[in-house]
Amino acid sequence: MTGRELGLGALAMALAAAVLSVALGIVAAEPVSRALASNQPEREVVTAYGVETIAYATVRRDDGTYRRMLVSRDSLAAVMGDGSLPDGTRILMETYYQPGRLGTVFHKRKVDGAWHYGSFPAASPDLSVAPRASCLTCHAHAAETDFTFTLPSLEAVAGGAAASDFTCGRGGRSPCNLRTYLEGALP
Ligand code: HEC
Repeated sequence: MTGRELGLGALAMALAAAVLSVALGIVAAEPVSRALASNQPEREVVTAYGVETIAYATVRRDDGTYRRMLVSRDSLAAVMGDGSLPDGTRILMETYYQPGRLGTVFHKRKVDGAWHYGSFPAASPDLSVAPRASCLTCHAHAAETDFTFTLPSLEAVAGGAAASDFTCGRGGRSPCNLRTYLEGALP
């Protein structure tokens, strides 16, 4: 095991412990049904793209641009928290050049164990996807997290945490180290 893998493993454990302690805190403090209603973090629901989605992460860049990740409600419910996502998982990513200025929406869906990709202008949603090498080559940097940079945030939100919001200090769309995406998911 390399040092990097060890570091990621330790972070993953810290994240799991944090999610677990939140869950345990809820159970210990109040009856479960009431706790779920009162302690569930507020979730932003977005319906603009023809499918009901929940915002689970915002990743900011130093130049003021940011991207907001959305997962379909069904997909969020199906997240197992085991480091990979099931077939049918649908994730959207809005790109913002500045607050309120929305550009292209990127989109991916898992089909027969492989990610298929698509994109559309925000004003004309198109949820079709196809295998796209140009997307996959860069997402291959996140092979350890099922080709999904923001998987740690998605798993944290599926476990009851609030949506994450953090900065990747590299320019443009360059991927940050996977550690940045793990740390960004910590509460
Ligand atoms: C140059 C590298 C690069 C390319 C090419 C790329 N992406 Fe990404 N993508 C990223 C990074 C990095 C993130 C995580 C967010 C961030 O750091 O800004 C991301 C996140 C996403 C997400 C959110 C889920 C996740 O994986 O974290 C979707 C959806 C997505 N990309 C779709 C696409 C599609 C569709 C294409 C092809 C049209 C594409 N991407 C091409 C780098 C890339």
